[in-house]
Amino acid sequence: MCGIVGVLGRHEAAPILVEALKRLEYRGYDSAGIATIHNGTLDRRRAVGKLVNLSDLLVHEPLPGKAGIGHTRWATHGAPTVTNAHPHRSGTVCVVHNGIIENFRELRDELAAKGLHPETETDTETVALLARSYLDQGLSPRDVAQQTLARLEGAYALVFLFEGDDDLLIAARKGSPLAIGYGEGEAFVGSDAIALAPMTDRITYLDEGDMAVVTRNSVEIRDAAGQLANRPIRKISIDTGQIDKRGHRHFMAKEIAEQPTVLADTLAHYLTDGQIALPGEGLDFREVTRISMVACGTASYACHVAKYWFEQIAGLPVDVDVASEFRYREPPLVAGTLGLFVSQSGETADTLAALRYCAGKTDKIVSVVNVPESSIARESDLVLPIHAGIEIGVASTKAFTCQLMTLVLVALAAGHQRGHLSDDALAARIEDLRGLPGLVHHALGIEADCARIARALAEARDILFLGRGRMFPLALEGALKLKEISYIHAEAYASGELKHGPIALVDKTVPVIVMAPHDELFDKTVSNMQEVMARGGKVLLITDAKGAEVAGDGTWDRIVMPQVSPLFAPLLYAIPAQLLAYHTAIAKGTDVDQPRNLAKSVTVE
Ligand code: F6R
Repeated sequence: MCGIVGVLGRHEAAPILVEALKRLEYRGYDSAGIATIHNGTLDRRRAVGKLVNLSDLLVHEPLPGKAGIGHTRWATHGAPTVTNAHPHRSGTVCVVHNGIIENFRELRDELAAKGLHPETETDTETVALLARSYLDQGLSPRDVAQQTLARLEGAYALVFLFEGDDDLLIAARKGSPLAIGYGEGEAFVGSDAIALAPMTDRITYLDEGDMAVVTRNSVEIRDAAGQLANRPIRKISIDTGQIDKRGHRHFMAKEIAEQPTVLADTLAHYLTDGQIALPGEGLDFREVTRISMVACGTASYACHVAKYWFEQIAGLPVDVDVASEFRYREPPLVAGTLGLFVSQSGETADTLAALRYCAGKTDKIVSVVNVPESSIARESDLVLPIHAGIEIGVASTKAFTCQLMTLVLVALAAGHQRGHLSDDALAARIEDLRGLPGLVHHALGIEADCARIARALAEARDILFLGRGRMFPLALEGALKLKEISYIHAEAYASGELKHGPIALVDKTVPVIVMAPHDELFDKTVSNMQEVMARGGKVLLITDAKGAEVAGDGTWDRIVMPQVSPLFAPLLYAIPAQLLAYHTAIAKGTDVDQPRNLAKSVTVE
């Protein structure tokens, strides 16, 4: 989603801004722009499409100046055009914005009545117009920002730049993340620590409702009530090498390949002397009567897998909701409910809103996140980091498997505490999990098969995924991954559900991908597979050696996976789901790391 950067530097700002925007590319965007102040004069350059277009423009029309702001835009209001690209300007003020100003129409009418008319279709331009209206009244930049913010409804991370003042940025946050970076006689603002990483390792995350007045040598932060606020300066250690493809063709390929290592890291973080140790005071699952899990997209499929684990291992009932539906459903939350929120970015607006709905209604709010400084983490009672490392590819891969690893460890701890798992049974399960990173490494060996099969999948218009039990959410994840990056229509069904309608879709042009390790439900899945083949369906069976033997002939193709404890199979079967999507996208020639229309961190509802 939109990326923001601001610089009050000692050197030319434009190259620093463009480099910082490049590090924010992973969030997804469709246009970009920067504005600087030179000799007191404000000017801007904007371009549609990739950042290279903005860089090209800057070669022909350079933008001098040591102070500036920049933005990558993921269109919400108005098409991705140069006019709609940020920074937005009105008179002597320029703004960049991430979020949605919900009352912009009302404000726009009010401003039009004063003769301040919009030139763009965006909600953000209204902020610039509003700020200008206050400037016209002779207010100082600080008062202008304060008055403007007081009128805004919705979500924002905003940075203001004022003509005539090249030592001032005003930054504000409500609903969308923003961080201030400290340099030597320099200051920076950015959507996240990745944007700021090479410039500084000292940053402050703004809190909800904060406004920061930033100069090269001072940062003054006030909270939502206008009181001076003392926010901690954190020393961040971002390995900028992680923002490098390290020889891989795409970030997604790198992140798929990293899974054996990061899964071992996740495991190591949660095991102490062979026992599962949750951070802080941990959790007492004997007091929990129900878990309410909430997430979006891939993270929600991790929750669906975890539902099987919590119910089967710990005897705990679990509800799973997609975050965008949760709070509007107004679910009653009974005593003893644990709210469990899963999010890679920790900034997903829907998930954050659901978490806030639960605050005070559930006994405890626990989050499973990849970014421990994120909003979701900061608003939780207990944070369980997944330790996946920075994930850049828009299609989530290693974060999914690390979410699964974290959740299965929590489910095992719950099962043990609640007396559903003996010491020996727990030790045996932990031993199985220790073998998982090695199995994932082994499973990556199926890549050549996936690439071969993907060439045929790339010809399909529709693809079905089937799975039963713990593999059903994996089928959902396989279909989502494929849709996201190859743009092929894919659907997933619980294997047993196919005959209740979707089987009408089956013909020889629709590949049906069946994800089925040889487990207690395998024979039933084989029957469903036979029903597909009897109707001319083209089945790709993903199973293990035993499954391949039992299933017999007649499938279109097979991928044979290493043998794994059926309980933990979802962690392993994520690999073919990812590799098939990746290679299908390669075969189709799509933009794997930044697929069309998608954003990495979805900070609007
Ligand atoms: C799919 C994908 C998305 C995210 C979803 C939630 O590959 O990445 O479906 O899983 O937008 O994002 P987070 O986990 O950051 O809350």
